[in-house]
Formats: sequence, structure tokens, C-alpha cells
Amino acid sequence: MTDLNGLIVFVETFGCQMNESDSERIAGLLVAAGARLTDRPEDSQVTIVNTCAVRGKSEEKLFSYLGRLRSLKKKTGLRIVLAGCVAQLHRDRILDRNPEVDFILGPDNYHLLPELLERRLGRPRVFTAWSKDWREDERRLSLRRSPVSAFVTVMEGCDNFCAYCIVPFTRGREKFRPLRTVLDEVRILAGQGYKEIQFLGQNVNSYRDPDTGAVFPDLLRAADEIDGLEWIRFITSHPKNFGPELAEAMARSRHVCRQIHLPLQSGSSAVLERMKRSYSREEYLEKTRVLRSLLPGICLSTDIIVGFPGETESEFSETLGALDEIRFANIFSFRYSPRPHTSAAKLKDDVPFGVKRRRLMDVQQAQKAIQTRIHEGFIGRTIRVLCQGKSKKDGRVFSGRSEGYQVVNFRSEADVIGRFVQVRITSCGPYSLRGELAESP
Ligand code: SAH
Ligand code: SF4
Ligand code: F3S
Repeated sequence: MTDLNGLIVFVETFGCQMNESDSERIAGLLVAAGARLTDRPEDSQVTIVNTCAVRGKSEEKLFSYLGRLRSLKKKTGLRIVLAGCVAQLHRDRILDRNPEVDFILGPDNYHLLPELLERRLGRPRVFTAWSKDWREDERRLSLRRSPVSAFVTVMEGCDNFCAYCIVPFTRGREKFRPLRTVLDEVRILAGQGYKEIQFLGQNVNSYRDPDTGAVFPDLLRAADEIDGLEWIRFITSHPKNFGPELAEAMARSRHVCRQIHLPLQSGSSAVLERMKRSYSREEYLEKTRVLRSLLPGICLSTDIIVGFPGETESEFSETLGALDEIRFANIFSFRYSPRPHTSAAKLKDDVPFGVKRRRLMDVQQAQKAIQTRIHEGFIGRTIRVLCQGKSKKDGRVFSGRSEGYQVVNFRSEADVIGRFVQVRITSCGPYSLRGELAESP
């Protein structure tokens, strides 16, 4: 039995929801092995950095953070564990240039941590082997940060190799958790009082149960039957794998939210082809029409990349046109950056930085106007909100999410965290709705 004997650990997370969920798993594992958590690296004996490599900027942020940890290490002698996607991808570079790092640990190797930390090791050690196994025991130990909403990973990795994307090289090929164990976890969470779960995967709708061959709509239908759970969400869906069966499963369910994140990336079919996305603008639009006819009022969100190699001004304007036509409830937009190993890295990164920056601003301005108009349509309406937390500045201001995943802020005298409330929307900005409780909780 490993005993970390009160070792003080700090976990920092960069990147996507899967990394957040992995950090909860790491924290759970270490606490079960006798460690204690702190929320400051200064107070820690071990700092674990769970990293993201998806864009050039994510990496820059990480390496400057590591610089700060290096100075801290000189003062306090803390040990540093580099985990996650950068660890998987850049092990050699880190070994060469970051002597402050004690362990380099890829996403399939977190189970090794308690034992590694128990032993004292003097030089960087690397653990980045791929594994096809799911370690279910570890998932049970997860120390979730939210008492209201829980992440449940159903698959990991990606086989799509979109031309710009590094994820298949950091998370490996697709692997699927057995349906039985996913549903067991969801039942336990529902029993613990979680109101919302979010199924996670790089490409959730390519899910296939390794035991029975059940597909993602089957998983949704089964989760929908679990008592106590109110809201079910999932992220991320690839438009290529998004068919009518999934839309119908969503429409027939009682608990799957009318909300979906469906990354478009570009509104130009020519750019989509160069990105190797396997769908055209028209096919994407058709999918949104099916979704909206089966699920009236559904909130769509998306990811957009500007400045992909060779993107012309007229191709870019097709992206603006698509935003106008689809009217997403929310978007995440990025300037293209070339990533190692990807096929687009071989293309000339020929859209000048200034042009990428201007296109990004154009996209964000256009979306801001669209969201403001959508939000104005909510004023005067009363909507159901799941309260997630409260403001740090004012203890009577609470924050929650609507079914469409919009941020809703409201005042309440009573603590309503973890509860569903009815909020009458009174005002809005482009990024959130504000309102007041329509009934006393
Ligand atoms: N599995 C998900 C998420 C991928 S990463 C999916 O398929 O959608 C999240 C987002 O980062 C992507 O959707 C894309 O918009 C953006 N992204 C990925 N690689 C990028 C790159 N090289 N440059 C800029 N943005 C990138
Ligand atoms: Fe990356 Fe494409 Fe896979 Fe998404 S589907 S993780 S963008 S390769
Ligand atoms: Fe980043 Fe890895 Fe997630 S590259 S976006 S942390 S899968």
C-alpha cells in the first residue's frame, strides 16, 4: 500500500475539460494514497502541472509558468511533475531544456503517480507509454471540484487527424470505456446528488461499447433512465459523426439538454476540405436544420479557426456568413498556429499574423452582436437555471447555467448552490444573462 504520509500537493490545470477531469482524477488518487491538497504552489512539496499542447499559445503559457516554478523550486525545493498533452508530446525537449521537471507523465500513466512520489528520485523520469486499459478504480476516486456538475469520460483519443490538430498525437487513437462502467459511475454520481453530468471525449459521438457494440445514442438513452439526474450534456461531437439517430435520441430524452457544441472550424467548403474535416458547409448547415426541427430552441455553440494556410479573404467571409446564418449561442475562436506532426504543418503558414488578428477580431465582433441580440430575446422570460456557485465579491450574487448553457447571474438571499431555480431575465450583456428569482427557493 502506498502511503504519501501527508505530502502536500498542488495541481495546476491547463487545457480542455478532459484535462480538468484528469486533474480531478489525479487529485483523488493522491488523496486516497495519503496526500493533502493545497491551492498554492508556494505551499506545496509537489506541484503537478497538467498541460495542453493544442495551440502554440497554450504551450507558450505553459513554458512561462514552468519558468516561474523553476524559481520557486530554488527557494522551496518542491518537486515538479509535468503531466498531460505537452508531457506526451515534448518529452525530449523537456528533458533537454527543463531540468527542474522531476517526472514527465503522459495521459495514460497517472496511475503511477502515488508510487513515484513515494520514492525519492533524483533526476527526470519519463512515463509516456500508451495504454489501451481503462483504470476504473482510479475514476471512482476522482475528487470533483463541483458538487453540482460532474464530468464523465466515455472515450479518449482521436482517429480523425484533422490537418491542423495535434490531439491524435497527444491522446493517441480512440479508446472507449465499457458502457456498463460508464453507467455505474453515472448512477453513483446521481446517488451522491449530482444534478448534471457531462460526458467527455475528443469525439464522443464515435463512441462504441467494446463489450456490446452499443453506440453513443444508446448511451444517452440508458443515462436518461437513471433516477435523480436532471441534465445530461456531452462534448465534443464531430459533425461528421453527427446523424439523425443522435438528434432523435436527444429529442426523445427527458434529461439531455437542448444544447450542443458542434465545431464548424470554417464556413468555407474549400477550407474545410483542406482541413480534412470530411463535411462541407452545406452538410453542416443541413445538420443544424435537422437539429433545430427536432429540438426547437436548441442552443448551438462552435469552434472557429481563422487564418488556416491559404485562407483567402473571400473564404474567410464565408465563415462570417455562416455565423450570421446559424446564429450560434456561443463560439470559441482561434488564430491558426502550426503544430508539430500535423499535416498542415507542412503547408506554408501564409496568412500574415496581422491578417489573422484582424479576422479573429471580425469574427468576435460579429458574434458579439449576434449573442447580444439572442440574449435580448430572453429579457422578460423566466427560465430554469442550475445554480453552480456564487460571486466572490458579493455573497448574495449567484451564478448558474441555463439549459442552453448560457451564464445566468441573479441575486438570492438564500444559498441555492446545487439547486434548480426559476430566474426572470431582466437584463443582459453579450456573454451573460442577468435576472431575479421568480419564486422564493
Ligand atoms: N476534439 C475536439 C476539440 C479539439 S481542440 C474537436 O474535434 O472539436 C479544440 C479546438 O481548438 C478545435 O476545435 C479548434 O478550433 C482549435 N484548434 C485545434 N488545433 C488548432 C491549431 N493548430 N490552431 C488553432 N486552433 C486550433
Ligand atoms: Fe483534433 Fe479533429 Fe480529432 Fe477534434 S476531431 S481532436 S479537431 S483531430
Ligand atoms: Fe489540449 Fe490535450 Fe485537451 S492538447 S485541448 S489538453 S486533449
